Amino acid sequence: MLDIAFAKPALPKSGALVLLIAEGAAPSGLWAQADEATGGAIGRALKVAEFKGAKGKTCAILAPGAELSRVLAIGIGKAGDVTRKILEEAGGAITAALTRDAAVAIAADSLTGAQAAEVALGAVLRAYRFDRYRTKEKAEDKPRLAKLTVLTAEPPKAKAAWEPLAATANGVFLTRDFVSEPPNVLNPAEMADRCRKLAELGLKIEILGPKEMGKLGFGALMGVSQGSANEPRLVVMQWHGASGNGKRGTRDKPIAFIGKGVTFDTGGISIKPAAGMEDMKWDMAGAGTVAGLMATLAGRKAKVDAVGLIGLVENMPSGTAQRPGDVVTSYSGQTIEVINTDAEGRLVLCDVMWYAQQKFDPKFMVDLATLTGAIIIGLGHEYGGMFSNNDALSKQLHDAGQETGERVWRMPLDEAYDKQLRSDIADMKNVGGRPAGSITAAQFLQRFVTNNRPWAHLDIAGTAWSSKDGAVTPKGATAFGVRLLDRLVANHYEG
Ligand code: BES
Ligand code: MN
Ligand code: ZN
Repeated sequence: MLDIAFAKPALPKSGALVLLIAEGAAPSGLWAQADEATGGAIGRALKVAEFKGAKGKTCAILAPGAELSRVLAIGIGKAGDVTRKILEEAGGAITAALTRDAAVAIAADSLTGAQAAEVALGAVLRAYRFDRYRTKEKAEDKPRLAKLTVLTAEPPKAKAAWEPLAATANGVFLTRDFVSEPPNVLNPAEMADRCRKLAELGLKIEILGPKEMGKLGFGALMGVSQGSANEPRLVVMQWHGASGNGKRGTRDKPIAFIGKGVTFDTGGISIKPAAGMEDMKWDMAGAGTVAGLMATLAGRKAKVDAVGLIGLVENMPSGTAQRPGDVVTSYSGQTIEVINTDAEGRLVLCDVMWYAQQKFDPKFMVDLATLTGAIIIGLGHEYGGMFSNNDALSKQLHDAGQETGERVWRMPLDEAYDKQLRSDIADMKNVGGRPAGSITAAQFLQRFVTNNRPWAHLDIAGTAWSSKDGAVTPKGATAFGVRLLDRLVANHYEG
C-alpha cells in the first residue's frame, strides 16, 4: 500500500503538488503560495485550460517553476456540496494521473482533517495493483509513486480519521488479491489457509473440510465439489467487537455474512463454452468479499459482533462429477434435483446459509455471490442486484451503497416465481429456466432462510470485476461489497 503521511501545510520544495479546488473559489492558502512561487504560472495555466473547479475536472501543469515537477489541479465542485464520495474520487484521480513522481504532496488545507483522510482513501484504493506474477516489467514502466503527503491544518485529526480507513483499504486489497489470484493457485484449501492467517487481526477462524461437511450432511455443497480433485472448505470467521472476546452469555445475536466461493466454475458436466471461461476464476468473489469485510471490521475494531462464512469449492467436470438429473439432499433436509450443474452457486450457498442459522441464529444475514449472468443483463456493471425479505434492511443497504458508490438496486422476490422451481421428483429444481434467472435464483435461496429472518442476497456477478478503470477501482477485481457492508455496519450496527 502507498505510504500515507499527514503534515502541516508547507509548500513542497520539489516533486508534484496537487491542488484540490472548489468551484469558483479564489486562490488562498497553499494554492496562492504555489501560484506566487511559480510566478503566476498556475493561474495562467488554469485560465487557458478554462479550469473552474467543476467536480471531476483536472488540469495538469508540467514544470510550472519553483522546482515543482508538476501541479495537478482537481475540481471538487461547489464547496457546500462536497461529499465523501467526491473527495475519494478526487483522491483516485491523483493516483491515476501521477505515477511518475515518487512523492506527491496534496494541498488539502481548505478541507477538514477528516476530509483529508477521505482523499487519501481514494488515492490508496485507486493505486492498487496485482503484479505478483509479472517478472519482466521494466523498472521505468512500474509506477514510481510510493509516498503521499496530505497537507492539512489538522494533522492529528486527519491521522485519527485515517486509521479506520486504512483498515478498510487493507480489507479491500485482501479481497482484490483473492479475486485476482489465478485458479490454479487459489483453490479452496489455499483460500482457507490464507483466511486462517486473519486470526492475527483478532478474528476467530474455524475451517471445516470434506469429512466434517459430509458428516453434517452438506449434500448440496458436496455434490458440487465431488467432481474436483481439490477438496472443499467451509471457513467460519468470527469477530466479537461488541461484547468482547470470550465473554459468553453477554453476547447479542451476531450479524452473518455469507459468501459464494467457487474458486473455478467450469459449469461442471453442464460445461460452459470456452470463450471467456477464464473469468470464472473470480466466481469466488462473494467469499473474497466476506473475507475482506471481516478483515476490515477486525482491522478497525468495529463495535459489532459479526460472523463471516464462506463455502469454498471447485466446480469441475470429471468421472466423479455430479450429473444433470442427480438429486441431492441439502443440509436443511430439502431435496434438490440438479438440472444444470452450472447453477452451482445456490447449491453451495444453501448449505452454508443453513449452517450459519443453525450455529449462530444471526439477527440478520447478507449473502454475496457472483450468482447469475442474468443480473448482468438486468443491471449491467453499475448496480449490484439486491433481493431481500425486509424493507428496512433493503433501505439501509441501498443508502450505504449510494454513500460508498457500491450501489445496489432492489429486485423483486415473489412466490409467483416459485412454480418455475417445481421438480417432478424432488422438493425443487436448481434452475427455473431463462425468464427472471436472477429472481428464481434468489427464490431458491429464500427457501433456506429460517423464521422469516431478515436477509438480503446480493448478486454481484456484474460488479465484482471490471474491464475498465473506475474512479477508485483500477480495472480487475473491484472488491464490490466490502465498503458497502462496512458502511452498513458503521451506520447502523455499532455501539
Ligand atoms: N458463476 C456463474 C454466474 C456468472 C456469470 C458470474 C457470468 C459472473 C459472470 C453461475 O454459477 C452460473 O453459471 N450461472 C448460470 C445459471 C444458469 C445455469 C441457471 C448462468 O447465469 O448462466
Ligand atoms: Mn455456474
Ligand atoms: Zn458460478
